[in-house]
Amino acid sequence: MTLRPLSAAKSPALKGAADIPGDKSISHRALMLGGLAVGETRITGLLEGEDVHATAGALRALGVTVVREAPGSWTVQGVGVGGLAEPSQVLDMGNSGTAARLLLGVLATHNLTAFMTGDHSLVKRPMARVTGPLSRMGADFVTRGGRLPLVVRGAVNPIPIVHRMEVASAQVKSAVLLAGLSAPGETTVIEPAATRDHTERMLRHFGGTISTGLLEDGATAITVRGQPELIAAPIVVPGDPSSAAFPAVAALLVPGSEVRLSNVGMNPLRAGLYETLVEMGADISFTNAGEAGGEPVSDLIVRHSALKGITVPAERAPRMIDEYPILAIAAACAEGTTHLEGLAELKVKESDRLAMIAAGLQACGVKIEVGEDSLTIHGTGHPPKGGATVATAFDHRIAMSFLILGLVSDEPVAIDDATAIATSFPTFEGLMAGLGAHITASRG
Ligand code: S3P
Repeated sequence: MTLRPLSAAKSPALKGAADIPGDKSISHRALMLGGLAVGETRITGLLEGEDVHATAGALRALGVTVVREAPGSWTVQGVGVGGLAEPSQVLDMGNSGTAARLLLGVLATHNLTAFMTGDHSLVKRPMARVTGPLSRMGADFVTRGGRLPLVVRGAVNPIPIVHRMEVASAQVKSAVLLAGLSAPGETTVIEPAATRDHTERMLRHFGGTISTGLLEDGATAITVRGQPELIAAPIVVPGDPSSAAFPAVAALLVPGSEVRLSNVGMNPLRAGLYETLVEMGADISFTNAGEAGGEPVSDLIVRHSALKGITVPAERAPRMIDEYPILAIAAACAEGTTHLEGLAELKVKESDRLAMIAAGLQACGVKIEVGEDSLTIHGTGHPPKGGATVATAFDHRIAMSFLILGLVSDEPVAIDDATAIATSFPTFEGLMAGLGAHITASRG
């Protein structure tokens, strides 16, 4: 594969407005639930990143008609709950853990056999967290040591279960709830800490029955009624707060900046980064509050701010799990020490993000300590030296984060490869250039 090195250099004040591409989590769910509904689901604002294309491709292989009508506007002809066909090809989920895990939930309670694989990053990621509970629902799996590639033989007579999750994971929760759709009776997931609830919101939007209850130990039980008839309904996908995070932090760091980011999803279970940045002293106005596809949205006006180091508690991690790489960049430029806790899950993301953040920041001259599940970043109140080529391990968020650092560091920051950015944010370079950022091809 050809690598595409990029370099980011000190930039003038970022100015202007940008439309944030569709939410990745919601885009996967819109395609999958559209495929399980009866009738035509029209989706607007769908993220056209490689991860979402992987989901669309897999659904087509399972007999669902998925059509791109215009940029961001897609239609899905649903086959009804339990109506997917056995695929004759291996389902290749590319780089996407969400696509793989959620689809395994769907497949586990369909009477079919399917083979699934992914790219060199996805085949390293743990799948036992979903194949465990899905086996209890009657599916059989043969895996490569709990990882992809794998074969799933879906349950002929699915069994509803109660599953208490060990890690707070929206992917595991969603996989079990999606499997529960084809099981009789009620399937319950108990989550130790609240995670993004896009699956629950969208199931309700399609007429499914979902209830939640608080347990004595503080955990939440989420119950789905099985074998519903889901009815196709239009979906408007909000902008992805995880993608907006990159231009937002860039505007906070580059002196004199003021940018408007429109239509950003503000689901409270996704907004942990924005809470954290405001605690650090960020000047962010949330305006034009509204709703898109059953999700709260807002425009963000972000102005350059002097940030201060803080402690981010472990309990906030599920609400900002994908945002630690870019938060670490903000922390590296803040004044004082930032302590991030509860980060064990970062080791099993698209890369070992704990290690990648630490190595990249160290290479750029930042003092950082890595614990078992924590990071301590010592900021000086000035941007770090930079002047390094950072390894990205085909991780889109590591790639974008270090490019943002290069916009303010004394010397440019290069990344070894930008190709992974297309998995979640294919318009990143154009959007950042439109705001005035200096990001160019580099010799590596
Ligand atoms: C996601 C859940 C999170 C997140 C991922 C998207 C989802 O993963 O990191 O990018 O769409 O459900 P985990 O469930 O592994 O925490």
